[in-house]
Amino acid sequence: MCTTDIPVGMHLKEQAGWNQTEADWRRYLELEPDGCFVAECDGSPVGTLTTCIFGPVAWIAMVLVDGRYRRQGVGTALMRHALEFLDIQGVRTVRLDATPLGQPLYEKFGFEIEYTLHRYEGVFASRPQSADLEPMRPENMEDLLTLDRSVTGTDRRKLLLRLTSEFPENLKVIRESGCVAGFCISRPGTHAVQVGPCLATGLLGGVLLDAARVQYVGQRAFIDVPTGNQAATQWAEDAGLTIQRRVVRMHLGQAYRDRVGELWASSGPEMG
Ligand SMILES: CC(C)(COP(=O)(O)OP(=O)(O)OC[C@H]1O[C@@H](n2cnc3c(N)ncnc32)[C@H](O)[C@@H]1OP(=O)(O)O)[C@@H](O)C(=O)NCCC(=O)NCCS
Repeated sequence: MCTTDIPVGMHLKEQAGWNQTEADWRRYLELEPDGCFVAECDGSPVGTLTTCIFGPVAWIAMVLVDGRYRRQGVGTALMRHALEFLDIQGVRTVRLDATPLGQPLYEKFGFEIEYTLHRYEGVFASRPQSADLEPMRPENMEDLLTLDRSVTGTDRRKLLLRLTSEFPENLKVIRESGCVAGFCISRPGTHAVQVGPCLATGLLGGVLLDAARVQYVGQRAFIDVPTGNQAATQWAEDAGLTIQRRVVRMHLGQAYRDRVGELWASSGPEMG
């Protein structure tokens, strides 16, 4: 896949009712230029798949097949190709968030379930009391990356540097004793603001999410919350959000265990 294929990706994601923008597709391509693929049938593009490699771990996302070409092996062909590519790159673990349609396809390749996330959606109606958060300082970046690595077990530096430089105004940080104890990044989508990733120790995730709620009052938001994070689930329900859909996080290869108590919102279904 290359940038001239972005309209194909946008068409397929619209067909599936997903939230990604052209800027999202551009980011996937720039993060993994050789690892995003288009499937063609008789010369026409009919499917997409993106990968993002973080050292020994990679994420697969945007597995989309045109409705007229499903159940003909296109999804299987895309997955087989991507897994071969990732194997050649030395990746030992592949992770993804599966929709109910995708899950049987991934199970066929041996992917195993880790845990469930709920996508909450709704319009942020009221403005909660929110603490004034200090702005991010450049010297906090290493702290932020360390926190992310300790919660996800993965060095997602290339993704987080990219998101924080693309959306500096949407980055919220909480510090404790001078160190970053939580952060939240949000970004625009075609249907709603995607709130996340939001990672925090203790109950600070609620403070960060309240700050996002203030920023986006009156706007529709999506937030992908691990069902195992009870405080985050409670926050979403208190904010008046409702469950739109469920995805299961799966892996192939060596297991990774996110610390879900500190994962208040994933970055969306693309990269954990
Ligand atoms: C999930 C998705 C990508 C699967 O793509 P696909 O091209 O239909 O996948 P495949 O054809 O390879 O496999 C799907 C089923 O078709 C069957 N199939 C494959 N070739 C077939 C053929 N020639 N004739 C009949 N059935 C066939 C497969 O066995 C499989 O069935 P089963 O696993 O239930 O037994 C597609 O449904 C889609 O785009 N869904 C919407 C977006 C989405 O949810 N994506 C997943 C994100 S995690």
